[in-house]
Amino acid sequence: MNPDYWTEHFRRNAEHRPEPDWDAPVSLRGPALSKLVKSLQQFQLGDGGGPAYLIAWNRERLLGSDAKLKSLVDVWFAEEREHSRLLGSALKRFFAREIRDHWSFSLFCGVRRMAGVRFELYALLLTEIVSHVYYKMMRKHVNDRAVREMCALIIRDEAGHIAFHRARLTAENRRFGKVWEAFFRMRGLAAGTVLWMNHRGALRASGATDAEFYRGIWQGMDNFIRGLRGDLERMRAGAAMKPCSQMVAECA
Ligand SMILES: [Fe+2]
Ligand SMILES: [Fe+2]
Repeated sequence: MNPDYWTEHFRRNAEHRPEPDWDAPVSLRGPALSKLVKSLQQFQLGDGGGPAYLIAWNRERLLGSDAKLKSLVDVWFAEEREHSRLLGSALKRFFAREIRDHWSFSLFCGVRRMAGVRFELYALLLTEIVSHVYYKMMRKHVNDRAVREMCALIIRDEAGHIAFHRARLTAENRRFGKVWEAFFRMRGLAAGTVLWMNHRGALRASGATDAEFYRGIWQGMDNFIRGLRGDLERMRAGAAMKPCSQMVAECA
């Protein structure tokens, strides 16, 4: 993987970002709004609001190995902090405060710290795949213009993050066989279930269903695995690397 190539993608992606219309009229009311606020509060903390960086005890094994890779990780997490800013603006729109901790995020960070950077990167990738589905469902179901505009920005960014992970794993040039796939899907379903436990109420109040969420995350994992194996085949056949924009479009 060429880190410069992806760093440039993140730099370009930081341009042309229309700010959501936070002053648009609010029509959400009652339980649907209060459930949405709870969900946004947790995402504001978890999606770039907490320690928005690699936190594994051995992260230097990755960051210290290559200065260009470190710059790439920096711009990736800058984008995560931007998500937190957007979610914080959505909370202000609904006159809600930000939260400082939540059990699921504390648990997530604790496991990432202890389990090492390799595990952490997989945990972040799977979280991005399942969060991508959450934001897509929110954009589809939540009847609020500013929230939909915010989701559109985050969905675009997360597609880039998922594509970057695909390029990173392709560069490992190892076998991603059936056993790897079974573990990958199992961990993805676990990550998705924790997300859904905490955010189901907000999306169901807006008309989303459990089946839609689980179908979405299964398809997200399918798409990732198929793309990764396809990229590996291309690389081993000596084909040119796909343009970054094509990889991002494939992960959208
Ligand atoms: Fe994010
Ligand atoms: Fe992300």
